[in-house]
Amino acid sequence: MLNVTNVTKKFGELTAVDDLSFEVAKGQVFGIAGPNGAGKSTLYNLITGLYSFEGSILFNKREISNLAPHKIANMGIARTFQIPQTFPSLSVAKSVGVGNHFGSKDGFEQDYVDHILEFTDLADKQDAMAGQLNLLDKKMLMIGAALATKPEILMLDEPMAGSNAKEILKLMDLIQRINRELNVTIIIIEHFMKVLTELTEQLLIIETGSQICCGDPAEVTCDSRVIESYLGDNLD
Ligand SMILES: Nc1ncnc2c1ncn2[C@@H]1O[C@H](COP(=O)(O)OP(=O)(O)O)[C@@H](O)[C@H]1O
Ligand SMILES: [Mg+2]
Repeated sequence: MLNVTNVTKKFGELTAVDDLSFEVAKGQVFGIAGPNGAGKSTLYNLITGLYSFEGSILFNKREISNLAPHKIANMGIARTFQIPQTFPSLSVAKSVGVGNHFGSKDGFEQDYVDHILEFTDLADKQDAMAGQLNLLDKKMLMIGAALATKPEILMLDEPMAGSNAKEILKLMDLIQRINRELNVTIIIIEHFMKVLTELTEQLLIIETGSQICCGDPAEVTCDSRVIESYLGDNLD
């Protein structure tokens, strides 16, 4: 469904993404992990059209490199950001509505917006201003607004960051339901290995922009290079 082939992104002297290739299959939960500065968020920025780059990215066999971000979103790729991005003075319902209005090929559908508000457990907060929500609800709203675009792929950038154990379980449950009930393919960047091993079917580990290994999460996390370069200072 998503084929990333020999993708390289340089910022001046710095190579943030270095000849990376991988494939995400339809229906998968695909994990990406690696130390800070490994190039994970940059990779998302390349897939979603924020920067030009060398190499090729195919979505459903169509080349999407050098397309504008809104075109890529319209084709069916939605994302969330590492730091929750919401419209502070817009209500929860309107925020999800904006995603549906601008992102969905089908145009605005109130029933779908209502469904997403229920799905993300925000229905009883739909009149609250986005800026007044707590961190967990802001994250749920950012995911809800992304889902309102009716994506085929949802890309999450460290969705668990700053969350406590109970909130992590709620987010994990939401991500699983998005994948299974809404049939959305998920790509997730995450630091918590427990989350990655429980949620993902395929795990890509990168460091300084390059692939360290990619495969079954249980096997990948046993790889001695992963333990040396990543897990060593990251066990929770
Ligand atoms: N717009 C940019 N301009 C210059 N350097 C950048 C830019 N975006 C990211 N970088 C650099 O690219 C590297 C990878 O960053 P990033 O993708 O944010 O890493 P990660 O998400 O894995 O922590 C870092 O060294 C970062 O400073
Ligand atoms: Mg990042």
